[in-house]
Amino acid sequence: GLGQPLPDPRPTDFSFKLIATDGKARRGEVSMPRGTIRTPAFMPVGTAATVKFMYPGQVRDLGADVILGNTYHLMLRPGAERIANLGGLHKFANWPYPILTDSGGFQVMSLAKLRKMSEQGVEFKSHIDGAKYMMSPERSIEIQCLLGSDIQMQLDECTRLPASEEDIEKAMQLSLRWAERCKTQFGDRPGQAMFGIVQGGDIPRLREESALALKAMDLKGYSIGGLAVGEPQDVMLDMLGITCPLLPENKPRYLMGVGTPDDLIEAVSQGVDMFDCVMPTRAGRHGLAYTRFGKVNLKNARHKDDHRPLDPESNCPASRDYSRAYLYHLTKSNEALASMLLTWNNLAYYQTLMQNMRDAIEAGHFVDHKAAVKEAWAKGDM
Ligand code: GUN
Repeated sequence: GLGQPLPDPRPTDFSFKLIATDGKARRGEVSMPRGTIRTPAFMPVGTAATVKFMYPGQVRDLGADVILGNTYHLMLRPGAERIANLGGLHKFANWPYPILTDSGGFQVMSLAKLRKMSEQGVEFKSHIDGAKYMMSPERSIEIQCLLGSDIQMQLDECTRLPASEEDIEKAMQLSLRWAERCKTQFGDRPGQAMFGIVQGGDIPRLREESALALKAMDLKGYSIGGLAVGEPQDVMLDMLGITCPLLPENKPRYLMGVGTPDDLIEAVSQGVDMFDCVMPTRAGRHGLAYTRFGKVNLKNARHKDDHRPLDPESNCPASRDYSRAYLYHLTKSNEALASMLLTWNNLAYYQTLMQNMRDAIEAGHFVDHKAAVKEAWAKGDM
């Protein structure tokens, strides 16, 4: 079965509760009818209604409280109205727990062809068959409602860096106007949430303006977008250092599309509560394993005769019960099991990283914990 039972009685509202803080790091709970997200949380990416190469029950058993879905991919294939007619995304994908969806703007910019931005929305052609679509803020929310998403994102415009201050400001202001339209379209949905997205690139003044304007809209949560889009890590962390203190303390903060294990531990240090990233799943499909001692490239011939598992101390079978020599063989042979085992290992690593951070914040040991985790990475593979 799919792990833990749903809470009884199930909450009817969406809520956030802070359980502990340690410095700027926060330990909290985001609750909604389909379940509770323990924060800081990592959300595995399930773009096309699947976390690639994983069964839903496996994802759950690793400790994921929520997965991410993509409006852009699902509207193109199989279609939002079709998923609604089939009973919604949770039933379609056999994931009865919380689902967060991205709004589509970011994916249109990275994947679609012939994009045309206007005040009204973004017009684009599908990367699958070239068919033409118009995505307005209202249509994005309508699609996310058809999917049945528990945590929805406003439509926004994300600027890749480096970019001119003028371009960054234009996109940030447009995103603020779209946030208002998304809020109106979303209306009053007690068990669900619509998050605003802070933009403003690498310009402190624009980050401040965006954060304060969204805060004044009194949304149920706040995403931080437009980061990990080409800037160095210290710039990203500076922007978090500016943005987080301007957001309300009693609402969840979600850093979109981030990141490496080091990005996660540094962003939690700045007060971020939620993350998603393709890194653990995509890296797994490319022969890369995340471990307590850093990244291991299973395509490297040095593993050919290595009988050791990735991590003998892990509770995850993928990390514990298969030799590096076998993983090397599967990877070199392009076997499906290579992707399955390495994705499993990587998501297990990411979920353990989050659980250990949650424990350390609750215990008031976050600074020492962070130093120990970073020291093991610096020491490198065994
Ligand atoms: N995913 C990663 N970054 C972003 C962003 O800035 N906006 C949206 N909508 N999704 C993202």
